[in-house]
Amino acid sequence: MSSNIPVLTLDGPSGVGKGTVCLLVAKKLGWHILDSGSLYRLLALSAGDNVDLGNVSQLAGLARDMQIEYVTSGGALGIYLRGENVSEAIRTEATGVLASKIAAIPEVRQALLDKQKAFAQAPGLVADGRDMGTTVFPEAALKIFLTASAEERAKRRYKQLKEKGVSANLSQLTVELQERDERDSTRSASPLLAADDAIVIDTSTLSIDEVCAQVMQLVEQRFKLKV
Ligand code: DC
Repeated sequence: MSSNIPVLTLDGPSGVGKGTVCLLVAKKLGWHILDSGSLYRLLALSAGDNVDLGNVSQLAGLARDMQIEYVTSGGALGIYLRGENVSEAIRTEATGVLASKIAAIPEVRQALLDKQKAFAQAPGLVADGRDMGTTVFPEAALKIFLTASAEERAKRRYKQLKEKGVSANLSQLTVELQERDERDSTRSASPLLAADDAIVIDTSTLSIDEVCAQVMQLVEQRFKLKV
């Protein structure tokens, strides 16, 4: 990463609202976005349901060779795999669970490292994920870690699914989120962890607008910007 490109990292567990905050803040700033979870989701989609998680070199090769494209327009992020728009297809719970399993493989993480670093382009980058502040952009000027209780995150996910007309079970969603947190936090390679120099924001009782306002205030202070 070129050290003069401003980078804001937004890390945190599943369902905390990072993606929405990342999009809104990047739009306000006119900066680029790295939705790093989408890379693991794209890999899960490419690998398919019958993937052999033990075939590490094949998965790492697939990670390096994926034909992917990101297109931001009108505040939304379009994600393409081999020319096909998979923005919706990668968001299923099943793809998220497989992504979390694949993401535990160190060789896969290593294979995706340069792809992620390449997103740091002028005028700046908002990077969302689990290890943005600890591993991918350890020299980022501002690192924020968003948290919320698993119950609150499951409620948010439940509401989102209901709004889309998808049937969901709140207690099952809570258990799945806790399992995903456990896997993402306890893996040896780049676990979900707040960087020592990250600012932690507990979003449990905050609206998305309130979280964005706090993030923007920190951005303006740290990068000496007036947006
Ligand atoms: O943020 P998300 O739900 O789209 O991420 C999907 C999975 O990818 C998540 O369970 C863990 C993994 N992931 C990761 O290991 N490191 C990242 N920087 C981002 C996501």
